[in-house]
Amino acid sequence: MENPLIEAPVPPVPQDVEPGGVGWLRANVARFSRPEDHARRRALVLDELATMGALRDKAFALTREMRDGGVDRILWTVPVAVLAAELGLPDVSRDIVAVSGSYHPHTGIGDDAEEAMRRLIEVCGGGVAERTAARIGLLVQACDATAKLVGKALAAHRSDEDAEGLLDRVLREDPPVRITRRWVGGEVVEVDLSERPFGAGPKRCLGEAQARQVAVGILDALLC
Ligand code: HEM
Repeated sequence: MENPLIEAPVPPVPQDVEPGGVGWLRANVARFSRPEDHARRRALVLDELATMGALRDKAFALTREMRDGGVDRILWTVPVAVLAAELGLPDVSRDIVAVSGSYHPHTGIGDDAEEAMRRLIEVCGGGVAERTAARIGLLVQACDATAKLVGKALAAHRSDEDAEGLLDRVLREDPPVRITRRWVGGEVVEVDLSERPFGAGPKRCLGEAQARQVAVGILDALLC
């Protein structure tokens, strides 16, 4: 049964922050938005995703190119590099990995993440607009979850399964994102996501189709 808490707002993040840092990113992405800002910022992400195409083939080709560099490097580079190229950006995967470690409001913010944010704003054109936050946020959202999904799929692979079947099974049996947080009665409450791997309600993942295409491309390149 659907847990009604998933519809509750997310815990508030500080809004009075230095422009361009990790705090600014948190304050401007759909993911941590107050209800009044959420639909507008979600639409910005949808706009960016709408023009992306052939992600499976692009992920397949880049994985093949990187095949001698080790699986971990592929997992933490290919999803972000492929999506970044679709946004007209260079391979910013290292900086996105650094920001990912400090993205969630319950984590501390490392100096490496602040430096990475400065470079990311620069490659995105230098402005601290909501659209810039949407673009960086999209890559950060993709980074950890897709790397972990593909890592789990590689570990769970059976010889009789194709990549799509393998992904469906991993998403069912061992999803990479197990909990999220909501704000209920002035307190942070953890919400179990094990039966809805891409979330539910107004904050549901916007990148499921893209994540699946990228993951299939990487798996096809590594498993065949
Ligand atoms: C191309 C890769 C991906 C992109 C671009 C992406 C993008 C996003 C975005 C923008 C949001 C925030 C939506 C909002 O707040 O309105 C989101 C939420 C979410 N994503 Fe993804 N995502 C990707 C991959 C994944 C993967 C692989 C998983 C796990 C299997 C995942 C699980 C989730 C979950 C559970 C949420 C909801 C969190 C919550 O309700 O608090 N995402 N995603």
